[in-house]
Amino acid sequence: MYATDDDPDLLALVEPYRAKTVEAIRLPNRADRARFLEEAFYSIVYLRSSDIYIDLVTDSGTSAMSDRQWAGLLTGDEAYMGSRNFFHLEDTVRRIVGYPHVVPTHQGRAAENILMELLVKPGDLIASNTLFDTTRAHVLNRGAQPLDLVGDCLWEFGAEQPFKGNVDLPMLEVALARHHERMPFLVLTVVNNMAGSAPVSMENIRETKRLADRFKIPILFDAARFAENAYLIKQREPAYRDSSIPDIVREMFSYGDGCWMSAKKDGLVNIGGFIALKDEATAHRCRERLVLYEGFPTYGGLARRDLEAMAIGIEEGIGEAHLRQRVAQVAYLGALLSKAGMVVSRPTGGSGVFVEVGSLYGHLPAERLPCVALTCDLYLEGGVRAAAAPFNLARIDARTGELHQRVFQIARFAVPRRVYGQRHMDYVGLVAKRVREKAHTNLGYQLVHQPEVLGHFFSKFEPWRD
Ligand code: F0G
Repeated sequence: MYATDDDPDLLALVEPYRAKTVEAIRLPNRADRARFLEEAFYSIVYLRSSDIYIDLVTDSGTSAMSDRQWAGLLTGDEAYMGSRNFFHLEDTVRRIVGYPHVVPTHQGRAAENILMELLVKPGDLIASNTLFDTTRAHVLNRGAQPLDLVGDCLWEFGAEQPFKGNVDLPMLEVALARHHERMPFLVLTVVNNMAGSAPVSMENIRETKRLADRFKIPILFDAARFAENAYLIKQREPAYRDSSIPDIVREMFSYGDGCWMSAKKDGLVNIGGFIALKDEATAHRCRERLVLYEGFPTYGGLARRDLEAMAIGIEEGIGEAHLRQRVAQVAYLGALLSKAGMVVSRPTGGSGVFVEVGSLYGHLPAERLPCVALTCDLYLEGGVRAAAAPFNLARIDARTGELHQRVFQIARFAVPRRVYGQRHMDYVGLVAKRVREKAHTNLGYQLVHQPEVLGHFFSKFEPWRD
């Protein structure tokens, strides 16, 4: 063991790596930023990455790979069938996750597409703690209905609850009692990305399993950030303080029947994903679909060298020094944004920092698009890109069993893994302060173009005019 006798709080903020390759970034001047924003229709989607100084739009596919991963790329065995890199990935996933049947895919949503096509039919109800966007889209695409059973504490940004990502068990009980016949499986998203990237406790996973068992409903994990969830369990759930990350991971997954993973997050790769299942017959059916959509089961839509980088990345992703620094860096940014006067979802969790948009742009009604105002201000003031949007969560009333929608409007400052240092975070904190101070002068934006498909992504805007 290393560093057991040193100050853990001090060590937590120190990057557990040193740089071997760097990429230059530059901050365009303010006039250029204003022009770029106009040319991008005031949408962060249309900005060029080379015109962005600090890019916190996502932590997905944006990690820096290690020297071991880059070296692994050179060991790619580019055979169509039976590549050794597939077997390395299969062994790694079996050992870490614990499910025997591993099906590679090129990213998370490809896995979702296959699983939903096999398991979901029109009229079904797919309940989860909270579904990620793409998962929700796949559920809807099958003519089924999503249900987000995260607790009301999600909307209480300042409430210091350690596991805001949990399934609300009374809600789950009602949903199961009324609708279990429409529920082919439950989804546990760990960490709960859309819900402030908050973790799910082991106790909650266990209780969810107990309720699901009563109705014989399987549990599938959306495992994009399973390692962050395991680390946050170790940090916040007293019974696991002395457990190792691999042991926590194995226990988490032991309560499920399978998972899918976008390895672009905790897998520390720029592309990759997989499905892993207990049941052989279902895995076999997944492989049949895989051949249609992704490719042969020993490459799943990826170059074999990418499978190698993924196998190594998943292993590195559960490293405790890595996770400690990652979680500490997100917390550090959270503290800076709070200090800048933003209302931050507390306590911070995995992928990034979540901020209440309404608290900054309370003067702007919904039709003046406060989320667009925030993302434009961040870019204009400092070349920072973050994501912000209102999300409709599908809920069930724990007393009446009625289904209803509740909007969760947030901005996410996602932190790419192993990419930025503490000074970059300090800079974002300073930009946030400027944005906070000027927010009241922003008159808002209006929609000028919304395509029918994926309108929330590809919309175009202009500054509000009366
Ligand atoms: N599940 C979760 C929890 C996710 O966060 C994502 C992607 C996916 C599934 C889909 O995986 O992108 O590999 O197809 N999240 C990214 C984000 C896009 O920014 O949070 P994918």
